[in-house]
Amino acid sequence: MNDPIIRRLCDLVDASPTAFHAVDNMAAALEARGGLCLDERSAWHLEPGRLYFVRRSLSALIAFRPGLRPPVEEGFVLAGAHTDSPALKLRFEKTVAARGMQRSPVEVYGGPIVSTWLDRPLSLAGRVALRTGDGRVENRLVNFSRPVGVIPNLAIHLNRDLNKGFEYNVQTQLPVLIGSSGMEGGASADEPGKAPRSPIAALVAGELGVEEAAILGADLYFVDAQKTLVIGKEGELINGYRLDDLLGCHAILEAFLKAEPSLHGQVACFLDNEEIGSRSSQGADSSFTRDLLGRIAALQGTTSEGFYRALASSFSLSVDVAQAWHPAYADKYDESYAPLLNGGPAVKVNANLRYATDAEAEARFRILCEESGRPCQKFMSRADMSPGSTIGPMSNALTGIRTVDIGHPLLSMHSIRETGGTRDHEAMIDVLTRAFTASPGIAP
Ligand code: CO
Repeated sequence: MNDPIIRRLCDLVDASPTAFHAVDNMAAALEARGGLCLDERSAWHLEPGRLYFVRRSLSALIAFRPGLRPPVEEGFVLAGAHTDSPALKLRFEKTVAARGMQRSPVEVYGGPIVSTWLDRPLSLAGRVALRTGDGRVENRLVNFSRPVGVIPNLAIHLNRDLNKGFEYNVQTQLPVLIGSSGMEGGASADEPGKAPRSPIAALVAGELGVEEAAILGADLYFVDAQKTLVIGKEGELINGYRLDDLLGCHAILEAFLKAEPSLHGQVACFLDNEEIGSRSSQGADSSFTRDLLGRIAALQGTTSEGFYRALASSFSLSVDVAQAWHPAYADKYDESYAPLLNGGPAVKVNANLRYATDAEAEARFRILCEESGRPCQKFMSRADMSPGSTIGPMSNALTGIRTVDIGHPLLSMHSIRETGGTRDHEAMIDVLTRAFTASPGIAP
């Protein structure tokens, strides 16, 4: 596969099995381009047009370039995507052992298509919190990058109706098989007086080269162990884990790095926890974005009144995936509003504001597509169905900034392997680059 943009996309997706890794990798890319990492606890001094970024809670990041003119005069252009995806989260402390077979219990994070996690080689990735020698806590990321387990289905002979649909029980049927001794019993006895430790703890400690007892907390997920693939007869399809919403993250990152500094401030938001409603310190339903805009405005000499004026003249693009038309389930779509893979970015609209787009925001986005020479598709769910939501309505409500919801058309959303179109990604990057450089263009 020769396209350098798609190669960089695949590299980011493969190296980012969790939101922690996505943020870490994007921070490295920003640093490689001269981006300066700012700490929320420190005093900042900003130079217009320079590249900065701020991380929050390890799983969210906002990158920005202060405008060449103060925000009160030119406002901001923002683009945002989410760093998290549906997954199975490990319950770290405990292993269920039966007849020498060891399974790691999980919880479901977000809304995955659970059946796609079965019979697949699963890797393990996330962050652990360690006790350091001086009694402090240190965060460490871990990415096994190799299969450590599998959730086996029951043989079809023992459930002849499996193909008629089956509901998996998270507590009893989704624990991940990580070993089998072949011997009855087989589970090691817990040490008297000590909390039982799981074999996973030993595995993670070994991977990190630390003492097992040093691990005091863990946010670890069982994730797809297979790499992202470019498929289709002309390589026009991309298939992989977490395309929702690493497609959005990567498109924004590429466009942000490509855009020249402009009169207005440019802001790229990568926020966590969209899949569970965005309500966290690092999600879209938090003060993170607004805090940051306020801080940039203050440091560029904008008064508090000027800050509200800046918000009113800013524009935001919420970039997430859109449900692409699926030929096998045509009745699930309103065909007039069902985007096609490789038909271009889709603007997403919903009367009940599951998407933030209003007529003005839609018009603004159509102009950006036109100016980039790229097509614009439109997604609306069937009128008798409700679509998912995005970070758009939340950041729109919290900042008051006019927002358009857009996305890459995507098939099998929330499967462990989702399928998108490579040409849509290139088009999305072009339109976002145009958005970052064109003036926010808010109507009076
Ligand atoms: Co999404």
